[in-house]
Amino acid sequence: MDKFLIWGGEQLKGETPTSGSKNAVLPILAASLLAETPSTIVNCPWLKDVDTMVEILDAMGVRVQRTFEGTLSIDPGPLASHEAPYDLVRKMRASIYVLGALLGRFGKATVSIPGGCVIGPRPIDLHLKGFAELGATIEQRCGYIFAEAPELVGREIFLGGPQGSSVGATANVLMAAVKARGTTRITSAACEPEVVDLANFLNRMGAKVSDAGSPTITVEGVSELHGVEGYEVIPDRIEAGTFMTAAAVTHGDVTVTGAEPAHLQSVIAKLSEAGVKIEMHNGDIHVDATGDVGPVDVVTQTYPGFPTDLQAQFMAVATLADGLSRVVDKIYPNRYMHVMEYARLGANITMDANSAIVRGVEHLSGAPIMASDLRASAGLVLAGLAAEGETTVLRVYHIDRGYEDIEEKLARLGAKIKRVKSN
Ligand code: UD1
Repeated sequence: MDKFLIWGGEQLKGETPTSGSKNAVLPILAASLLAETPSTIVNCPWLKDVDTMVEILDAMGVRVQRTFEGTLSIDPGPLASHEAPYDLVRKMRASIYVLGALLGRFGKATVSIPGGCVIGPRPIDLHLKGFAELGATIEQRCGYIFAEAPELVGREIFLGGPQGSSVGATANVLMAAVKARGTTRITSAACEPEVVDLANFLNRMGAKVSDAGSPTITVEGVSELHGVEGYEVIPDRIEAGTFMTAAAVTHGDVTVTGAEPAHLQSVIAKLSEAGVKIEMHNGDIHVDATGDVGPVDVVTQTYPGFPTDLQAQFMAVATLADGLSRVVDKIYPNRYMHVMEYARLGANITMDANSAIVRGVEHLSGAPIMASDLRASAGLVLAGLAAEGETTVLRVYHIDRGYEDIEEKLARLGAKIKRVKSN
C-alpha cells in the first residue's frame, strides 16, 4: 500500500486548478446507460472511483474509452447484463447508482448490496423506497437487490430521511423516474449541485426534469433517451474546498482556479469567520491565510449547509487555530476516525457526545498516521503539511479514490510531499 511522506511547515503558495467533480461524474456515468447511443463526458477526473465505475460498466458489456485527457466515451449499445456483481460493488458505494439506471433502461436490475463503511452506517432504504413507489418489486436475498418493474409509473415520492435529504437516493430515483410513465414529484429531494448536474445531463439526453436544486423535483417521464456529446462535468467543490483549507492550515496564499464559488458559499463563510481573506474573480478563489487564523464552529448539513466531506479538513485547521472550535457532523454522526490520528500529531480534541471540541495548539509534530477513509485522509495530509518534522500517512489508497494528482498539485504549491510506492 502506498504511503505519503510529508515534511511539514511550508506555506502553500500559487495557483491550483480544480478537477471535475467525482460525486457528479459517478451518477452521470451510470445515467449514460439509460440511452442506447454513445455519450462523451469531458472534464472527467481520473480517479480510482471513476476506474471502478468504468469496470462496472465494462463488466455489463458497455464499451468505455478514455479518448484523450479528461474525456470518456461511453457506448451503452452493447449493454448485455443488468447485474452489478459484489466483487465490484464492494469497492465503491456509488456503484449503487447503476440500480436506478438499469431499472430505467431495462425495468430490471440485480445489484449487490453495498456494505457498511467506516464513516458509519450508510443505509439505502430511501433508494429502495423510491423504486418501490415507482412500481418496482424489490427483493433482497443472498447479498443482492433484485429489482423489477414491468412498467415504472410516476407519482409523488417523499425522500426525507433521519438526516434530511439523501444525495444518493435522489440521484438514483431520478434516473429511474425519467423513464417512468407520467409525472414523478420527488419531495425532500437533495439540493446538492451534483444532483443538478445529473439533472442537466439527463435533460441533455432528452429527459424532462425541472427544479433540480430545489427540494421538489418534477419529472415528466419520456419513453426514450439518447446519448450526449461533450457533456462537461461541474468542478469538484470538495477538492476546491480541500485546497482552500490547505491554504488556511499552512498560513498560505493560494488561488484555486476553475472552481464554482457559488457551490462553496458555506466554506467561504466559515474560512472568512476564521479570519482568512477570500476574494473571488469568476471561477478563481484567492485564499490569503497569511495572517492569524482563528477558531470556528462548524456544523455539517445538507447543501447549502457546510459539507460533511470537508469536516475532517476543517478540523485540521481548527487543531492549530488560536482558540476553541466545535465541529459537529450532523450527516454522519460517527465520522470522526481522524480525531485519534490528529491526536497522534499533538492535537487537543475531546469528544462530547457527537461534537468534537478542538482546542488549538501552538504546533503539531510529525508522526506516522493512518488514513481511514477518503475525506479523513485528505484531512490527515493537511495536518501533516502543517506539522513540524516528518509525517507518514499510511493507506493513501483512500485518497486516490477521490483526489486527482493530489501530491503533484500540493507539490506545485510548495508542499514537501512524496509518494512511496508499495512493492
Ligand atoms: C453522498 C456523497 C458523499 C457525501 C454524502 C453526504 C457521492 C458518491 N457521495 O453520499 O461523498 O459524504 O453524499 O453529502 O455523491 N440515508 C438514509 N437512507 C438512505 C440514504 C441515506 O438514511 O437510503 C442517510 C445517510 O445515512 C446519511 C444521510 O442520509 O446520514 C445522507 O446520505 P446521502 O446523502 O445519501 O449520502 P451518499 O449519497 O451515500
